[in-house]
Amino acid sequence: MGFIEMTINFSVESRSSDSPARTGTLELENGMFETPIFMPVGTRATVKSLSPEELKKCGTGILLANTYHLYLRPGADVVAEAGGLHEFMNWSRPILTDSGGFQVFSLSDMNEVTEDGVQFQSHLDGSKHFITPEKSVEIQKKLGADIIMAFDECVSYPADREYVEKSLNRTLRWAERSLKAAEDLQDHQHIFGIVQGGTYPDLRKKSARRTRKLDFPGYAIGGLSVGEENKLMYQMLDVTVPELPSKKPRYLMGVGTPRDLIEGVKRGVDMFDCVLPTRLARHGSLYTSRGRINITNAAFKKDFNPPDKDCSCYVCRNYSSAYLRHLIKRNELYGLRLASYHNLYFFLDLMRKLRYNIRRDTLDDFVESFYSGWAEE
Ligand code: GUN
Ligand code: ZN
Repeated sequence: MGFIEMTINFSVESRSSDSPARTGTLELENGMFETPIFMPVGTRATVKSLSPEELKKCGTGILLANTYHLYLRPGADVVAEAGGLHEFMNWSRPILTDSGGFQVFSLSDMNEVTEDGVQFQSHLDGSKHFITPEKSVEIQKKLGADIIMAFDECVSYPADREYVEKSLNRTLRWAERSLKAAEDLQDHQHIFGIVQGGTYPDLRKKSARRTRKLDFPGYAIGGLSVGEENKLMYQMLDVTVPELPSKKPRYLMGVGTPRDLIEGVKRGVDMFDCVLPTRLARHGSLYTSRGRINITNAAFKKDFNPPDKDCSCYVCRNYSSAYLRHLIKRNELYGLRLASYHNLYFFLDLMRKLRYNIRRDTLDDFVESFYSGWAEE
Protein backbone atom coordinates (compact mmCIF):
# COMPACT_ATOMS: atom_id res chain seq x y z
CA MET A 1 0.00 0.00 0.00
CA GLY A 2 1.38 3.36 -1.01
CA PHE A 3 0.96 6.67 0.72
CA ILE A 4 -2.50 8.07 0.11
CA GLU A 5 -2.44 11.73 -0.84
CA MET A 6 -5.94 12.93 -0.04
CA THR A 7 -5.35 16.65 0.03
CA ILE A 8 -6.31 18.95 -2.77
CA ASN A 9 -4.81 22.30 -3.58
CA PHE A 10 -7.81 24.53 -2.99
CA SER A 11 -7.65 27.92 -1.38
CA VAL A 12 -10.46 30.31 -0.58
CA GLU A 13 -9.33 33.79 -1.52
CA SER A 14 -12.18 36.16 -0.80
CA ARG A 15 -15.54 36.09 0.90
CA SER A 16 -18.66 38.11 0.44
CA SER A 17 -19.56 40.06 3.58
CA ASP A 18 -23.30 39.42 3.39
CA SER A 19 -23.56 35.85 2.07
CA PRO A 20 -21.57 32.57 2.07
CA ALA A 21 -20.31 33.39 -1.46
CA ARG A 22 -16.55 33.04 -1.90
CA THR A 23 -13.88 32.96 -4.57
CA GLY A 24 -10.97 30.55 -4.62
CA THR A 25 -8.46 28.74 -6.78
CA LEU A 26 -8.25 25.05 -7.38
CA GLU A 27 -4.85 23.93 -8.55
CA LEU A 28 -4.75 20.54 -10.24
CA GLU A 29 -1.84 18.88 -11.99
CA ASN A 30 -3.32 19.71 -15.41
CA GLY A 31 -4.01 23.33 -14.61
CA MET A 32 -5.54 25.74 -12.17
CA PHE A 33 -8.77 27.68 -12.30
CA GLU A 34 -10.65 30.20 -10.26
CA THR A 35 -13.91 29.41 -8.52
CA PRO A 36 -16.88 29.72 -8.62
CA ILE A 37 -16.65 28.00 -11.99
CA PHE A 38 -19.00 26.52 -14.59
CA MET A 39 -17.94 23.27 -16.27
CA PRO A 40 -19.18 22.71 -19.85
CA VAL A 41 -20.45 19.19 -20.42
CA GLY A 42 -18.54 16.96 -22.83
CA THR A 43 -20.50 13.77 -22.26
CA ARG A 44 -18.83 11.69 -24.99
CA ALA A 45 -15.40 13.31 -24.73
CA THR A 46 -16.51 16.28 -26.79
CA VAL A 47 -18.49 19.40 -25.97
CA LYS A 48 -20.87 19.05 -28.89
CA SER A 49 -19.66 20.98 -31.96
CA LEU A 50 -16.81 22.89 -30.28
CA SER A 51 -13.05 22.38 -30.56
CA PRO A 52 -10.70 22.52 -27.55
CA GLU A 53 -9.33 25.82 -28.90
CA GLU A 54 -12.83 27.29 -28.98
CA LEU A 55 -13.56 26.01 -25.48
CA LYS A 56 -10.41 27.71 -24.22
CA LYS A 57 -11.28 30.94 -26.04
CA CYS A 58 -14.63 31.14 -24.33
CA GLY A 59 -12.92 30.64 -20.99
CA THR A 60 -13.35 26.96 -20.10
CA GLY A 61 -11.11 26.01 -17.15
CA ILE A 62 -12.36 22.46 -16.60
CA LEU A 63 -14.86 20.28 -18.40
CA LEU A 64 -17.00 17.31 -17.48
CA ALA A 65 -17.24 13.92 -19.18
CA ASN A 66 -19.44 10.94 -18.38
CA THR A 67 -18.27 7.56 -17.18
CA TYR A 68 -21.54 5.91 -18.19
CA HIS A 69 -21.30 6.93 -21.87
CA LEU A 70 -17.55 6.41 -22.27
CA TYR A 71 -17.70 3.02 -20.58
CA LEU A 72 -20.35 1.88 -23.07
CA ARG A 73 -18.71 3.51 -26.10
CA PRO A 74 -15.85 3.46 -26.96
CA GLY A 75 -14.97 1.61 -23.73
CA ALA A 76 -12.59 2.58 -20.93
CA ASP A 77 -9.79 0.41 -22.35
CA VAL A 78 -9.81 2.28 -25.66
CA VAL A 79 -9.47 5.59 -23.81
CA ALA A 80 -6.78 4.17 -21.51
CA GLU A 81 -4.78 2.85 -24.47
CA ALA A 82 -5.02 6.26 -26.11
CA GLY A 83 -3.26 7.59 -23.02
CA GLY A 84 -6.36 8.75 -21.11
CA LEU A 85 -9.08 11.28 -21.83
CA HIS A 86 -6.76 14.28 -22.04
CA GLU A 87 -4.73 12.68 -24.84
CA PHE A 88 -7.73 11.06 -26.48
CA MET A 89 -9.69 14.29 -26.87
CA ASN A 90 -6.73 16.67 -27.07
CA TRP A 91 -7.79 18.63 -23.98
CA SER A 92 -4.88 19.61 -21.76
CA ARG A 93 -6.78 21.38 -18.98
CA PRO A 94 -8.54 19.60 -16.09
CA ILE A 95 -11.41 17.16 -16.59
CA LEU A 96 -13.99 15.85 -14.13
CA THR A 97 -15.83 12.59 -14.76
CA ASP A 98 -19.20 11.84 -13.22
CA SER A 99 -19.43 8.35 -11.76
CA GLY A 100 -22.44 7.08 -13.69
CA GLY A 101 -24.54 7.25 -10.54
CA PHE A 102 -26.91 9.64 -12.26
CA GLN A 103 -26.88 8.46 -15.89
CA VAL A 104 -27.54 4.84 -14.94
CA PHE A 105 -30.75 5.97 -13.28
CA SER A 106 -31.84 8.54 -15.84
CA LEU A 107 -30.81 6.92 -19.14
CA SER A 108 -30.68 3.17 -18.89
CA ASP A 109 -33.66 0.86 -19.16
CA MET A 110 -34.54 -1.42 -16.32
CA ASN A 111 -32.17 -0.79 -13.49
CA GLU A 112 -32.08 -2.79 -10.34
CA VAL A 113 -30.36 -1.41 -7.29
CA THR A 114 -28.87 -3.77 -4.73
CA GLU A 115 -26.41 -3.29 -1.90
CA ASP A 116 -23.59 -4.30 -4.19
CA GLY A 117 -24.39 -1.99 -7.11
CA VAL A 118 -26.71 -1.31 -10.03
CA GLN A 119 -27.69 -3.66 -12.80
CA PHE A 120 -28.84 -1.89 -15.94
CA GLN A 121 -29.44 -2.28 -19.64
CA SER A 122 -27.58 -0.02 -22.04
CA HIS A 123 -29.79 2.63 -23.64
CA LEU A 124 -27.82 1.98 -26.85
CA ASP A 125 -28.15 -1.73 -27.50
CA GLY A 126 -29.91 -3.28 -24.53
CA SER A 127 -26.77 -5.08 -23.33
CA LYS A 128 -26.67 -5.84 -19.61
CA HIS A 129 -24.13 -4.34 -17.24
CA PHE A 130 -23.46 -4.28 -13.53
CA ILE A 131 -21.75 -1.26 -12.00
CA THR A 132 -20.46 -1.18 -8.44
CA PRO A 133 -18.61 1.61 -6.62
CA GLU A 134 -15.37 -0.31 -7.22
CA LYS A 135 -16.10 -0.70 -10.91
CA SER A 136 -17.03 2.96 -11.36
CA VAL A 137 -13.75 4.04 -9.73
CA GLU A 138 -11.82 1.52 -11.82
CA ILE A 139 -13.34 2.92 -15.03
CA GLN A 140 -12.67 6.50 -13.91
CA LYS A 141 -9.09 5.57 -13.10
CA LYS A 142 -8.68 4.35 -16.67
CA LEU A 143 -10.34 7.45 -18.13
CA GLY A 144 -7.82 9.49 -16.14
CA ALA A 145 -9.84 12.59 -15.23
CA ASP A 146 -8.37 14.97 -12.64
CA ILE A 147 -11.47 14.82 -10.46
CA ILE A 148 -13.53 11.65 -10.25
CA MET A 149 -16.82 11.14 -8.43
CA ALA A 150 -17.94 8.56 -5.88
CA PHE A 151 -20.66 6.18 -7.07
CA ASP A 152 -24.06 7.25 -5.73
CA GLU A 153 -27.77 6.89 -6.22
CA CYS A 154 -29.58 10.00 -7.45
CA VAL A 155 -33.14 9.60 -6.20
CA SER A 156 -35.88 10.97 -8.45
CA TYR A 157 -38.38 13.57 -7.30
CA PRO A 158 -40.79 13.24 -5.62
CA ALA A 159 -39.70 10.31 -3.44
CA ASP A 160 -40.96 9.21 -0.09
CA ARG A 161 -38.87 9.76 2.95
CA GLU A 162 -38.41 6.12 3.73
CA TYR A 163 -36.87 5.40 0.33
CA VAL A 164 -34.67 8.51 0.41
CA GLU A 165 -33.29 7.55 3.82
CA LYS A 166 -32.60 3.99 2.78
CA SER A 167 -30.95 5.20 -0.42
CA LEU A 168 -28.75 7.80 1.26
CA ASN A 169 -27.49 5.23 3.74
CA ARG A 170 -26.57 2.95 0.87
CA THR A 171 -24.94 5.89 -0.96
CA LEU A 172 -22.85 6.47 2.19
CA ARG A 173 -21.68 2.86 2.17
CA TRP A 174 -20.94 3.24 -1.54
CA ALA A 175 -18.98 6.42 -0.76
CA GLU A 176 -16.81 4.48 1.67
CA ARG A 177 -16.26 1.75 -0.90
CA SER A 178 -15.51 4.34 -3.61
CA LEU A 179 -12.94 5.97 -1.35
CA LYS A 180 -11.31 2.66 -0.57
CA ALA A 181 -11.19 1.78 -4.29
CA ALA A 182 -9.59 5.18 -4.88
CA GLU A 183 -6.54 4.42 -2.74
CA ASP A 184 -4.47 3.75 -5.83
CA LEU A 185 -5.69 6.44 -8.17
CA GLN A 186 -3.26 7.93 -10.66
CA ASP A 187 -1.11 10.62 -9.03
CA HIS A 188 -3.01 13.53 -10.57
CA GLN A 189 -6.48 12.23 -9.60
CA HIS A 190 -8.76 13.26 -6.71
CA ILE A 191 -12.12 11.85 -5.67
CA PHE A 192 -15.16 13.84 -4.49
CA GLY A 193 -17.97 12.49 -2.30
CA ILE A 194 -21.64 13.18 -3.11
CA VAL A 195 -24.33 14.32 -0.68
CA GLN A 196 -27.88 13.07 -1.27
CA GLY A 197 -31.01 13.29 0.91
CA GLY A 198 -33.77 14.30 -1.50
CA THR A 199 -35.78 17.29 -0.40
CA TYR A 200 -35.78 16.44 3.33
CA PRO A 201 -33.69 18.99 5.26
CA ASP A 202 -32.78 16.61 8.09
CA LEU A 203 -31.76 13.88 5.64
CA ARG A 204 -29.65 16.37 3.69
CA LYS A 205 -27.87 17.35 6.91
CA LYS A 206 -27.35 13.74 7.89
CA SER A 207 -25.97 12.85 4.47
CA ALA A 208 -23.67 15.90 4.48
CA ARG A 209 -22.32 15.24 7.99
CA ARG A 210 -21.64 11.59 7.38
CA THR A 211 -20.13 12.12 3.92
CA ARG A 212 -17.91 14.81 5.44
CA LYS A 213 -16.67 12.36 8.08
CA LEU A 214 -15.19 10.26 5.28
CA ASP A 215 -12.81 13.16 4.58
CA PHE A 216 -13.00 13.51 0.81
CA PRO A 217 -10.86 16.22 -0.84
CA GLY A 218 -14.08 17.80 -2.18
CA TYR A 219 -17.84 17.44 -1.89
CA ALA A 220 -20.67 17.45 -4.38
CA ILE A 221 -24.34 18.06 -3.75
CA GLY A 222 -26.37 15.66 -5.86
CA GLY A 223 -30.01 14.80 -6.29
CA LEU A 224 -31.10 18.37 -7.02
CA SER A 225 -32.60 19.99 -10.11
CA VAL A 226 -34.50 16.75 -10.70
CA GLY A 227 -37.94 18.34 -11.01
CA GLU A 228 -38.37 20.08 -7.66
CA GLU A 229 -39.27 23.78 -7.42
CA ASN A 230 -36.32 26.20 -7.56
CA LYS A 231 -37.13 27.43 -4.08
CA LEU A 232 -36.91 23.94 -2.68
CA MET A 233 -33.51 23.43 -4.27
CA TYR A 234 -32.25 26.70 -2.75
CA GLN A 235 -33.58 25.61 0.66
CA MET A 236 -31.67 22.35 0.35
CA LEU A 237 -28.49 24.34 -0.39
CA ASP A 238 -29.18 26.51 2.66
CA VAL A 239 -29.18 23.46 4.93
CA THR A 240 -26.45 21.44 3.17
CA VAL A 241 -23.63 23.89 2.47
CA PRO A 242 -23.06 24.88 6.14
CA GLU A 243 -22.47 21.19 6.95
CA LEU A 244 -19.58 20.98 4.47
CA PRO A 245 -15.99 21.96 5.32
CA SER A 246 -15.32 25.57 4.34
CA LYS A 247 -11.79 24.76 3.15
CA LYS A 248 -12.81 22.25 0.51
CA PRO A 249 -14.48 22.74 -2.88
CA ARG A 250 -18.26 22.33 -3.14
CA TYR A 251 -19.84 21.21 -6.39
CA LEU A 252 -23.54 21.40 -7.24
CA MET A 253 -24.18 18.68 -9.81
CA GLY A 254 -26.23 19.17 -12.99
CA VAL A 255 -27.18 22.77 -12.24
CA GLY A 256 -28.40 24.94 -13.85
CA THR A 257 -29.96 28.11 -15.23
CA PRO A 258 -28.21 31.48 -14.82
CA ARG A 259 -30.53 32.13 -11.85
CA ASP A 260 -29.54 28.78 -10.30
CA LEU A 261 -25.85 29.61 -10.73
CA ILE A 262 -26.30 32.97 -9.04
CA GLU A 263 -28.35 31.53 -6.19
CA GLY A 264 -25.88 28.66 -5.77
CA VAL A 265 -22.90 31.03 -5.67
CA LYS A 266 -24.69 33.19 -3.08
CA ARG A 267 -25.04 30.08 -0.94
CA GLY A 268 -21.35 29.15 -1.15
CA VAL A 269 -21.16 26.73 -4.10
CA ASP A 270 -17.84 26.68 -6.00
CA MET A 271 -18.47 24.44 -9.02
CA PHE A 272 -21.38 23.75 -11.40
CA ASP A 273 -22.03 21.78 -14.56
CA CYS A 274 -25.02 21.65 -16.86
CA VAL A 275 -25.96 20.71 -20.42
CA LEU A 276 -28.34 23.66 -20.62
CA PRO A 277 -26.23 26.21 -22.55
CA THR A 278 -25.11 23.73 -25.21
CA ARG A 279 -28.37 21.77 -25.45
CA LEU A 280 -30.55 24.88 -25.73
CA ALA A 281 -28.19 26.37 -28.30
CA ARG A 282 -28.87 23.45 -30.60
CA HIS A 283 -32.56 24.34 -30.42
CA GLY A 284 -31.90 27.97 -31.32
CA SER A 285 -32.35 29.21 -27.78
CA LEU A 286 -29.81 31.88 -26.90
CA TYR A 287 -29.02 33.50 -23.57
CA THR A 288 -28.78 37.27 -23.56
CA SER A 289 -28.44 39.92 -20.86
CA ARG A 290 -32.21 40.34 -21.10
CA GLY A 291 -33.10 36.67 -20.82
CA ARG A 292 -33.45 33.78 -23.23
CA ILE A 293 -34.53 34.36 -26.84
CA ASN A 294 -35.42 31.97 -29.62
CA ILE A 295 -33.38 33.06 -32.58
CA THR A 296 -35.66 31.21 -35.03
CA ASN A 297 -38.45 33.65 -34.15
CA ALA A 298 -39.75 35.72 -37.13
CA ALA A 299 -38.87 38.89 -35.20
CA PHE A 300 -35.18 38.23 -35.99
CA LYS A 301 -35.63 37.80 -39.75
CA LYS A 302 -34.17 41.22 -40.54
CA ASP A 303 -32.46 41.92 -37.23
CA PHE A 304 -28.89 42.72 -38.18
CA ASN A 305 -27.78 43.39 -34.62
CA PRO A 306 -25.76 40.82 -32.67
CA PRO A 307 -27.81 38.32 -30.62
CA ASP A 308 -26.73 40.11 -27.42
CA LYS A 309 -25.54 43.71 -27.65
CA ASP A 310 -23.89 43.37 -24.23
CA CYS A 311 -21.92 40.23 -25.16
CA SER A 312 -18.35 40.53 -26.39
CA CYS A 313 -17.98 36.96 -27.64
CA TYR A 314 -16.70 36.07 -31.11
CA VAL A 315 -20.25 35.42 -32.33
CA CYS A 316 -21.71 38.69 -31.11
CA ARG A 317 -18.74 40.65 -32.47
CA ASN A 318 -19.06 39.15 -35.95
CA TYR A 319 -22.56 37.89 -36.71
CA SER A 320 -26.13 39.12 -36.72
CA SER A 321 -29.29 37.61 -35.28
CA ALA A 322 -30.68 37.42 -38.82
CA TYR A 323 -27.72 35.30 -39.97
CA LEU A 324 -27.92 32.97 -36.95
CA ARG A 325 -31.67 32.63 -37.47
CA HIS A 326 -31.12 31.70 -41.09
CA LEU A 327 -28.43 29.10 -40.30
CA ILE A 328 -30.35 27.48 -37.46
CA LYS A 329 -33.64 27.42 -39.36
CA ARG A 330 -31.85 25.66 -42.22
CA ASN A 331 -30.14 23.24 -39.82
CA GLU A 332 -26.71 24.38 -40.89
CA LEU A 333 -23.91 22.95 -38.73
CA TYR A 334 -22.23 26.32 -38.44
CA GLY A 335 -25.35 27.73 -36.80
CA LEU A 336 -25.17 25.10 -34.06
CA ARG A 337 -21.51 25.90 -33.51
CA LEU A 338 -22.07 29.65 -33.26
CA ALA A 339 -25.05 29.27 -30.92
CA SER A 340 -23.18 26.80 -28.68
CA TYR A 341 -20.15 29.08 -28.53
CA HIS A 342 -22.22 32.11 -27.58
CA ASN A 343 -24.23 30.32 -24.88
CA LEU A 344 -21.13 28.85 -23.26
CA TYR A 345 -19.43 32.21 -23.35
CA PHE A 346 -22.51 33.72 -21.68
CA PHE A 347 -22.35 31.20 -18.80
CA LEU A 348 -18.59 31.48 -18.34
CA ASP A 349 -18.78 35.26 -18.51
CA LEU A 350 -21.50 35.27 -15.86
CA MET A 351 -19.18 33.27 -13.57
CA ARG A 352 -16.33 35.72 -14.26
CA LYS A 353 -18.61 38.61 -13.28
CA LEU A 354 -19.71 36.79 -10.12
CA ARG A 355 -16.07 36.20 -9.11
CA TYR A 356 -15.16 39.82 -9.84
CA ASN A 357 -18.04 41.13 -7.74
CA ILE A 358 -17.37 38.75 -4.83
CA ARG A 359 -13.78 40.01 -4.72
CA ARG A 360 -14.94 43.63 -4.68
CA ASP A 361 -17.69 42.70 -2.23
CA THR A 362 -20.35 44.09 -4.58
CA LEU A 363 -22.16 40.82 -5.20
CA ASP A 364 -25.61 42.01 -4.08
CA ASP A 365 -25.48 45.08 -6.33
CA PHE A 366 -24.38 42.99 -9.28
CA VAL A 367 -27.10 40.41 -8.73
CA GLU A 368 -29.74 43.10 -8.40
CA SER A 369 -28.71 44.73 -11.66
CA PHE A 370 -28.51 41.35 -13.41
CA TYR A 371 -32.05 40.46 -12.37
CA SER A 372 -33.42 43.91 -13.17
CA GLY A 373 -32.87 43.39 -16.89
CA TRP A 374 -33.64 39.67 -16.86
CA ALA A 375 -36.89 38.21 -18.17
CA GLU A 376 -37.94 35.10 -16.23
CA GLU A 377 -37.68 31.80 -18.09
N1 GUN B 1 -25.61 14.79 -11.90
C1 GUN B 1 -26.68 15.50 -11.51
N2 GUN B 1 -27.14 15.05 -10.31
C2 GUN B 1 -26.35 14.03 -9.95
C3 GUN B 1 -26.32 13.13 -8.81
O1 GUN B 1 -27.15 13.21 -7.90
N3 GUN B 1 -25.34 12.18 -8.80
C4 GUN B 1 -24.42 12.06 -9.81
N4 GUN B 1 -23.49 11.13 -9.75
N5 GUN B 1 -24.43 12.89 -10.87
C5 GUN B 1 -25.38 13.86 -10.94
ZN1 ZN C 1 -22.15 36.40 -27.65
